[in-house]
Amino acid sequence: MALWGARFSQGIADATFALSRSVDFDWRLAPYDLRSSLAHVAALESGEILTSADAALIKSALKELALQVASGEFTPIAIDEDVHSALERGLTEKLGALGGAIRAGRSRNDQVTTDLRLFAIDHMLEIALLLTSMQGAILKKAAEYVFDSAPGFTHIQHAQPVSFGHELAKHAHAFARDLDRIIDWLARSSISSLGAGALSGSALALDPVATAKDLGFSASFSNSIDAVSDRDYVAEALFICALIGTHLSRIGEEWTLWASSEFAWAKVSDAYATGSSIMPQKRNPDVAELARGKSGRLVGNLVSLLTTLKGLPFAYNRDLQEDKEPLFDSVDTLLLLLPAVTGMISTTEFDREKMKSATALGFTLATDIADYLVGKKIPFATAHEAAGACVRLCEASERQLHELTDEEFASIHSELDPHVRSVLTVSGALSSRTTAGGTAPVLVQAQIDGALTANNAQHSAIAGKHQAFKEMMGS
Ligand code: ARG
Repeated sequence: MALWGARFSQGIADATFALSRSVDFDWRLAPYDLRSSLAHVAALESGEILTSADAALIKSALKELALQVASGEFTPIAIDEDVHSALERGLTEKLGALGGAIRAGRSRNDQVTTDLRLFAIDHMLEIALLLTSMQGAILKKAAEYVFDSAPGFTHIQHAQPVSFGHELAKHAHAFARDLDRIIDWLARSSISSLGAGALSGSALALDPVATAKDLGFSASFSNSIDAVSDRDYVAEALFICALIGTHLSRIGEEWTLWASSEFAWAKVSDAYATGSSIMPQKRNPDVAELARGKSGRLVGNLVSLLTTLKGLPFAYNRDLQEDKEPLFDSVDTLLLLLPAVTGMISTTEFDREKMKSATALGFTLATDIADYLVGKKIPFATAHEAAGACVRLCEASERQLHELTDEEFASIHSELDPHVRSVLTVSGALSSRTTAGGTAPVLVQAQIDGALTANNAQHSAIAGKHQAFKEMMGS
């Protein structure tokens, strides 16, 4: 149903209608639009713009419509341009001309951005909950391998030994920052735009602050022009989603590599692997690959919105209709990805023996020789050179560092006494890394315990916020 047209002498071309029609994708805003309409009717009633009797009729029609939308009984039809016009049609079908009363003091410009904020808050909280679950899964998996060693990498080359629990737990820290970003985003984005009207506010006796409170927002807008034009909350949400996607892509790459025949560290459970239609032996880590692959569209959605916003005049322009699909797609992508990656992580088993036997390969203990000399007050540059000479000798004679003779050590540096072998064990190297946040297994255990406690608290806090949001939506 058209919400305008009185000044036009001719109907719009089919092509114009097809281009401008957004109901095929914005229909999912319907529950938020209905809830914000309830808040608007309450504002019209408080300002005595609507009589209480009319307000009651409109409210009950909106609630009935909400049930019909939820059950699928009421859906958009061909003449509906967007979610707002479709729902106004629904209201008018129930109430006749009174259905149109709801438009007083409101424009689709303040309406659409209020709806989209509600959608974004609801879904970013859902993503945050899934993130805390994934973080918990990572930490629990990490706790299983705290006392197992593996070579740590730089440049995909063996670098230094690490506790494998430490290696796994690192991902939980990246997601902890993403969670912080969502909480921080929420504090900044919880602003209602209702009452801003088309762009300049309203001459009617509305109370945008009360409306904001009714909808569970922390505050109401302070500049009506900004209120209808601002899409920072979408851009920031898309950035957070893109960064989560980037973090997931690094897990995807790591799991794919570890599950390869060459590494064979990770055994991804059957439930999170797929076969090949032609090669019967294949067991492909597709969840990991999709975690890596889908980061592309998450970054793309951010770039898409920023490009739409760049240079856009104020206030509302139809370009802003392009804000929704990137957000919907990013949210949907993460809602699909996060449970799958969480499941993959919890059910992957690692080959402790294989990782252990690989730990000292590639002279990962060379730094420990240098540190041993530094302990004897040898300048690090000299110590580094001596450790390098040990590696060179080992490479030439195809031996490991601990296999050098006492004489060979002494000939490389007079302070390299036989006691140096005490640092040339993986367990010695690991337990010596005791700087805060380092890989010494006892520290890793404490880091993981602390992170799990924080994770539980954060999960409950976010679940509480999401519950409060759902209660607001149902009220
Ligand atoms: N469907 C439109 C959107 O998503 C609603 C706002 C239309 N406003 C207007 N002035 N034409 O942006």
